[in-house]
Amino acid sequence: MTEPWWSGATLYQIYVRSWKDSNGDGIGDLQGVISGLDHLEWLGVDGIWLSPTMPSPNRDWGYDVSDYYGVHPELGTEADMARLIEEASWRGIRVLLDLVPNHTSDAHPWFVQARSDPSSPMRERYVWAKPGAGGGPPNNWRDATGASAWTLDEPSGQYYLHNFLPSQPDLDWWNGEVRAEFERILAYWFDRGVAGFRIDVAHGLVKDSQLRDDPEAGPEHHPMEVRSGLVPVYSANRPEVADIYRRWRRLADSYEPPRALLGETWVLSPEGMARFYGEEADQLQLCFNFGFLFADLSAGTMADLVRRTLASLPEGATPLWTGSNHDVSRFPTRWAAGDERRSRAALVMLCALPGTVVLYYGDEIGMTDVEMPEERLLDEMAVLAGRTSRDHFRSPMQWSDRPNGGFAEDGAPTWLPMGDCAALNVRAQRADPRSTLHLCRTLLMLRRRGLASSGYRPLVEGPDVWAWEGASRFVTAVNLSPRTAEVAGVTGTVVADTGDGGRRSVAERLVMEPWHAVVVEREG
Ligand code: NOJ
Repeated sequence: MTEPWWSGATLYQIYVRSWKDSNGDGIGDLQGVISGLDHLEWLGVDGIWLSPTMPSPNRDWGYDVSDYYGVHPELGTEADMARLIEEASWRGIRVLLDLVPNHTSDAHPWFVQARSDPSSPMRERYVWAKPGAGGGPPNNWRDATGASAWTLDEPSGQYYLHNFLPSQPDLDWWNGEVRAEFERILAYWFDRGVAGFRIDVAHGLVKDSQLRDDPEAGPEHHPMEVRSGLVPVYSANRPEVADIYRRWRRLADSYEPPRALLGETWVLSPEGMARFYGEEADQLQLCFNFGFLFADLSAGTMADLVRRTLASLPEGATPLWTGSNHDVSRFPTRWAAGDERRSRAALVMLCALPGTVVLYYGDEIGMTDVEMPEERLLDEMAVLAGRTSRDHFRSPMQWSDRPNGGFAEDGAPTWLPMGDCAALNVRAQRADPRSTLHLCRTLLMLRRRGLASSGYRPLVEGPDVWAWEGASRFVTAVNLSPRTAEVAGVTGTVVADTGDGGRRSVAERLVMEPWHAVVVEREG
């Protein structure tokens, strides 16, 4: 059986507003994405995932959709989207969109009608409940800002549910019309050549039908899965979501080539995450592994997470690795504290693990989080939650050392501040064969030659060094420590190296500098 196209692919997340502006308004757009496709082809990317492209009032930058069948006018038109899909396909690059099925915008016509006319059938597309026993919200669920997940609709005296902002009302996935509507939405975009969807809040669509209180968290719970001291076992993570994904999977599989469903499964244990693939591997084909993303960059921890992940996945399923996205600090900052040696080692690790990798725009040049003045911050959810603004990880792409980094024409008011483009940019790194950009390209080329193939076999597991091989001829070794180390029994040619070594032969003994990673191709 041949492997499906997403298995082992290199996907690249484009936060469209921040990637490339084509019309001087300081906001990235679809024409900008088209103009950047040559960069991605040169780099060796197989597919792009575009952060939300649908019309939206932008209270959560597109994660509050007001029309699932359109394109946000700030980003372009449907014709631009069609052209992008075509231009990408000429370069062998597939286009995945972001689907937000957990909630709509409160400006979506469904919700506008649901709120203004409680007898409308649209009312039933959302989760409404009467006040709790003593008055006040129906239960203890909290939204992403830490406030009650319920907002009172005064005219009707009922509350509506929102797991995120009050302007993002949750859909009721027990409702057959909602289910039917989303199958139409999926088919609409699949018919237009979209290769798949990243599914926002994939673990959260179905809520407990009795709206039971979420239990208090204990010390055994990962801090990243606890919400205001509660574990979301009723407000999210319901097993009944499996029916939805089985149906979507059948739809995705009915296309040629099959379309991919990539879940934002915010579940911190690999075992819990693996459930979204389905025991029979008949649900989502790919799931984000947040346990891995939030782990420390240490050989022992990472090796253990990889082992657990691979052991949990159903037969034939593809693991997915990622280090950065638009919601979390970029890995060159979070894992590597800005130390280039560490972030290059992390890049090798990500690209050499068996399975699919999702790089976040800028990972290829080692872009870090960007400091921004308070008055430029736009992330409403972070302000309400009193958390670090996600804007720091969404700064515009640094293409060159121009004042606006080649992201937008000089003088254009960029929607978020630029980082230090003189220090880090694509153009300078293209001219430097030792740059992170060239390292990344080498790794992606090696992926096409089997670097990330299945059959993971650890050779050394921590505490400082971790080394493994797959079914192909490649051995990857990463030293995730500040100490020099040696790996015995590796003979072949070094084909990727984060240090200064370059291409060379090794016989039996591999010397690893601190925070150093190499890929060795065995002979024969
Ligand atoms: C997850 C998205 O990645 C995040 O950016 C968004 O705020 C929430 N879901 C709500 O849609």
